[in-house]
Amino acid sequence: MKIGRNDPCWCGSGKKYKSCHAAFDEKLDAYKAKRVPVPSHKLIKTQEQLEGIRKAGKLNTEILDMVAANIKAGMSTDDINTLVHNYTIEHGGIPAPLNYQGFPKSVCTSVNDVICHGIPDKNEILKDGDIINVDVTTILDGYYADASRMFLIGEVSEEARKLVEVTKESVDLALKEVKPWGRLGDIGAVISEYVYKHGYTVLRDIGGHGVGNDFHEDPYVCHIGKKGTGMLLVPGMVFTIEPMVNEGEEDFFQDEENGWTIYTEDGSLSAQWEYTVAVTEDGVEIITH
Ligand code: MF3
Ligand code: CO
Ligand code: CO
Repeated sequence: MKIGRNDPCWCGSGKKYKSCHAAFDEKLDAYKAKRVPVPSHKLIKTQEQLEGIRKAGKLNTEILDMVAANIKAGMSTDDINTLVHNYTIEHGGIPAPLNYQGFPKSVCTSVNDVICHGIPDKNEILKDGDIINVDVTTILDGYYADASRMFLIGEVSEEARKLVEVTKESVDLALKEVKPWGRLGDIGAVISEYVYKHGYTVLRDIGGHGVGNDFHEDPYVCHIGKKGTGMLLVPGMVFTIEPMVNEGEEDFFQDEENGWTIYTEDGSLSAQWEYTVAVTEDGVEIITH
């Protein structure tokens, strides 16, 4: 059903539609007529939702800062799980991974050739030279925020350090592409171009996602893309950028026993950084990093 010009706007502002998102919807219709994929209204967060997601993001960033302050050689990945779990609960949050589609722990810990979805384990001890991704997702008052960072344990090889650095730089470059009336493919284009330039590969089939009201929402954010293609970016969209970059081939396999952990097929190292971002009226807001 079509919304009347004097009806309250669908965005939840309380303003009349005609003085709120009416012009915006006309603009979307014009893009649509040019065959540009446009986001549905449900992918555009209300101010109230954005406020909630920001608070979840603030706690999520604090948790990663706490991990950064404590992570060291000799500790197990399950010790990281305990730190994340307890801190989250003590601050009124819920660790989103716990029991998510059967995931058994409160955080993902992915060491060396593990690409993502590593399960914390008390028998997995961090040692000098390891690289590890810690992926934290927090629910606060029903809202979700998702981010991950890499940590270098002790002295790591020059090649590992470089992989981690290039992966981070690819995300920072992509942030510049997050702006209203840009395209989702612009993000994948800069990331894949930068990663390939350094001789690495990036996963096509596992990528970022809308987030905020739920853990994984539309759209799928592919880190391989073409400039000027893909979904239109508009203010109020919230999604992750989280490239998984392999030192070797892009191919991966899943642990058959636990059904979660994803490894590089060739055993080479893999790195990942993840930010949750929002598209604002004039660019990007980092929700958690
Ligand atoms: N945090 C991951 C992501 O960035 C998802 C992990 S799902 C889990 O999308 F169940 F493994 F936690
Ligand atoms: Co994510
Ligand atoms: Co994540």
